[in-house]
Amino acid sequence: MKAILSILVLGLVYAAVESKESPPKVQVYSRNPGNYGEKNVLICHVSGFHPPDISIQLLKDGQEIKDSNQTDLAFEQGWQFHLTKTAHFNPSRGEEYSCRVRHLKNMKTYTWEADM
Ligand SMILES: *[C@@H]1O[C@H](CO)[C@@H](O)[C@H](O)[C@H]1NC(C)=O
Repeated sequence: MKAILSILVLGLVYAAVESKESPPKVQVYSRNPGNYGEKNVLICHVSGFHPPDISIQLLKDGQEIKDSNQTDLAFEQGWQFHLTKTAHFNPSRGEEYSCRVRHLKNMKTYTWEADM
């Protein structure tokens, strides 16, 4: 009886958390205007997600930029979290920079747009 009760309670807690599920909003931008041949910082800001099961990668031509920093997971109002990942970069014409975000089982890639 006790076991059944705990399973029931677990199920209810799970359902409550599950119902708060919310996909991330992702913005990819650079600190300075995106001019080719100039040092810059690539920024990927991910917000409004729940639960905090997420991973963010900054990519250059599809390869992860290893030398990057990530902020600690921070709370917004309520159940939602936000995170920012940054890397130094020096964009050249023809290179593609993007931010790949995996939230739960969903993976999506967002491409940075140079200003030209
Ligand atoms: C990442 O952190 C290191 C150490 O604090 C710092 O030297 C570096 O400039 C940072 N990189 C970016 C892209 O902010």
